[in-house]
Amino acid sequence: MEDLKKTISEKKLFSLEMVNVIKLIESHNIKLNSLNGIEIFGGTGTTDILLGKKLKSFEIWEIDENCESKLKDMFPNSKIKICDSIKILKENNNLSTYDLILLDNPMSVFGSNNEPYKYCEHFDTLENISKLIDKSAIVIFLVNKKPFYHKKLLRKNTLWKERRKSFYGNLNINNLSNNFLINFYIEFFKKYHLKTLFANNIIRHNPHLDYYIFKLEKINSSNKIKNIDWVSLSGLIKTNS
Ligand SMILES: C[S@@+](CC[C@H](N)C(=O)[O-])C[C@H]1O[C@@H](n2cnc3c(N)ncnc32)[C@H](O)[C@@H]1O
Repeated sequence: MEDLKKTISEKKLFSLEMVNVIKLIESHNIKLNSLNGIEIFGGTGTTDILLGKKLKSFEIWEIDENCESKLKDMFPNSKIKICDSIKILKENNNLSTYDLILLDNPMSVFGSNNEPYKYCEHFDTLENISKLIDKSAIVIFLVNKKPFYHKKLLRKNTLWKERRKSFYGNLNINNLSNNFLINFYIEFFKKYHLKTLFANNIIRHNPHLDYYIFKLEKINSSNKIKNIDWVSLSGLIKTNS
């Protein structure tokens, strides 16, 4: 576990995996320098910088005000906003829209001093992501396929496992396959009137964490899907149970 933590704390490792995310997007003939992007879990921007610098514009939201000066140094041309991104997305309907949305979401459950376990991974965020999309956008988020649990964080781990079960369903939430996850998110986005144009995963830290990259298109109101085909997931759910 110590080795793993040491490796993960080497942010350079994650920055390097971002190169593969960039290659993947470019392989779809998408010109990064034509895209307006946003990161809604900015931190200090270390893992985002390779991608952010290639975009036409790159806005950054982050809750921790201690990150602000570092972000301003690293991204002098970016609009930086210190805010609770999840709350903003939930409570507002007239937000600016972007062509690329990055969610370098925290793991486990997290929140503020008052409500330390309010949120979990990207689970409270993706349901409102269409508010940041005009017609279509690339959405990149972190998926924990195989979590490792810190021995000392018993309460957090219990809540984390509960949130994972209520989000993904009653299956083996400790080892989710890519095949299941890609199909799960395609169905998930349909529920929020977003059609998947392409979907891929890029390893960020094997075997735990991947970037999931979805190109999504808003389904116009005359075309909205009324029933979600969760049945198509049933075979995959079985292989994960
Ligand atoms: C995995 S880190 C992001 C790391 C960042 N990409 C970097 O390279 O430094 C997740 C970040 O999300 C921030 N965060 C947590 N809850 C948030 C919220 N509700 N709104 C905005 N940012 C939040 C944390 O403060 C943390 O900096």
